[in-house]
Amino acid sequence: MVILRRARYGSPVWEVPSVYVVSVINYKGGVGKTTLTANLGAELANRGMKVLLVDLDPQTSLTFSFYEPDDWRERLRDGRTVKRWYDGLRGDTPAVTLGELVVSPGPANAHLAGAGRLDLIASHLGLTDIDLALARGVADGEEYDRELFRVRGSLAEGLHDEALGGYDLVLIDCPPNFNVVTQSAVIASDHLLIPAKADYLSTLGIDYLCGNVRELVDRYNADSRRFATIRRHHKVAPGIAGVVFTMIHLNAQRPVAAHQGYMDQVRALGLPVFPTVLRENVTLFATNTPRGVPAVLRPRVGLPAVQEELRQITTEFIAHLQPAEVAA
Ligand SMILES: Nc1ncnc2c1ncn2[C@@H]1O[C@H](COP(=O)(O)OP(=O)(O)OP(=O)(O)O)[C@@H](O)[C@H]1O
Ligand SMILES: [Mg+2]
Repeated sequence: MVILRRARYGSPVWEVPSVYVVSVINYKGGVGKTTLTANLGAELANRGMKVLLVDLDPQTSLTFSFYEPDDWRERLRDGRTVKRWYDGLRGDTPAVTLGELVVSPGPANAHLAGAGRLDLIASHLGLTDIDLALARGVADGEEYDRELFRVRGSLAEGLHDEALGGYDLVLIDCPPNFNVVTQSAVIASDHLLIPAKADYLSTLGIDYLCGNVRELVDRYNADSRRFATIRRHHKVAPGIAGVVFTMIHLNAQRPVAAHQGYMDQVRALGLPVFPTVLRENVTLFATNTPRGVPAVLRPRVGLPAVQEELRQITTEFIAHLQPAEVAA
């Protein structure tokens, strides 16, 4: 069992215990963010952790990897999605706490080996409207900056919910953009995990993403002093847990030369890169996958090597987070 200790918020700024937060992020679409979030969360829960997944993408792919669309429509859409919480931020509907939105996907939890748990805060297609709506009616200037600061820090604040205190880890699946919802995930995070394909655009994008994260964090920390009346000052400093290369083509069990070249370029940026890569396997991931149970938990999955990679990536992930304590 692994216990994670937060690097930040060392001082008792918050009144309830902090939960450890990691955002899975990359601007680039289709690089495996959602697949990695679902499988990493599932494997960590399988190892005994209490994991909360948060789907921040209006495409709702993470939600639909655990729930059938009909189920989502009937049971989650109108009351239990993260959109309701963001809606509450602008005062349109009564505020709801994040703890009230948690659901527990049955099939995935039924496949867990031990005492772990895998829960979810689902997403909603209407989350796309949030970005514009949050800043509605506020002109550029001091008031706009203040509103932006408030919204950027809102998820960090919302996750400090007593009801979420029992989770060992929150894993956030970000959309492929850097809008204010994604920014709120970055500000809430202890670490960022970056899945990437080993190709030209993905490698360019990683550098750009890290630059934008640095800018956002600096701005937020400066605003945190400027608007200290809104929120008690706390410095945020999300670290990079690392880059996980996905959809890799292998030759004799090694990434093909073209992929290796791009992977070396990312290492040269000074970013931590996970030694284990996730190979491409269209049959397993992209087609005809039974909904509800991530590949890493499925019995009799077609290719044990892929499951082994997912487990190995999970082990490396834990090591990158520098757990406070690892007990047998
Ligand atoms: N290792 C893999 N091999 C083959 N296909 C994969 C692999 N990983 C993910 N896929 C497939 O690639 C597609 C994109 O993956 P995924 O949805 O995880 O990416 P994403 O980064 O979350 O995308 P988006 O930016 O749209 O949210 C999906 O159809 C998924 O099933
Ligand atoms: Mg996704």
